[in-house]
Amino acid sequence: MLLNKRVLLIISGGIAAYKALELIRLLKKEGASVRCILTKGGAQFITPLSVAALSGEKVYDDLFSLTDESEMGHIRLSREADVVAVVPASADMIAKIAGGHASDLASTVILASDKPLVVAPAMNPLMWANKATAANIETIKSRGIAVVGPAAGEMACGEEGLGRLAELADIMEALRATLK
Ligand SMILES: Cc1cc2nc3c(=O)[nH]c(=O)nc-3n(C[C@H](O)[C@H](O)[C@H](O)COP(=O)(O)O)c2cc1C
Repeated sequence: MLLNKRVLLIISGGIAAYKALELIRLLKKEGASVRCILTKGGAQFITPLSVAALSGEKVYDDLFSLTDESEMGHIRLSREADVVAVVPASADMIAKIAGGHASDLASTVILASDKPLVVAPAMNPLMWANKATAANIETIKSRGIAVVGPAAGEMACGEEGLGRLAELADIMEALRATLK
């Protein structure tokens, strides 16, 4: 199902960003091509160099890039994808999607996209339980966006609860289901 599919992977700012590196590897192993957008938050957790090395493609991070925007890069990025995935999706990125923001490259690409979107949230359990996040999740689900996870368990911050990134196998399955 993922063979020859083009995945646009948005990596936003959370501790689980390192798991996106393994996801790139798994997607490529199944024959997909992976192009990545690393948000400013995401780049605090993993480097563009690792993302570029694993994806084998340039990493996009700047909305106001002269080189990319001379070809309207923010429009082209989603046009050239079969599916868009946000892994991990920070509470901030989810709020931007729900609110229809276009304040950075990732949110602008999502707003200017007509491709299926898969969102895998990962955050502290209290952030996840917050009514603001719950409302944002309801909003994006009501628009047909697929939300995978989060899972329950021990968090990197030492707390327990719901907020861990879904297992990569489950995220892969959601991508396959979306592409069916
Ligand atoms: C150490 C640390 C860990 C964080 N982990 C998370 C997280 O797991 N999930 C989340 O939603 N936000 C987390 N945040 C907050 C986000 O990084 C912050 O909201 C950031 O603005 C998100 O950026 P983005 O929207 O560009 O991805 C964390 C912040 C710090 C300093």
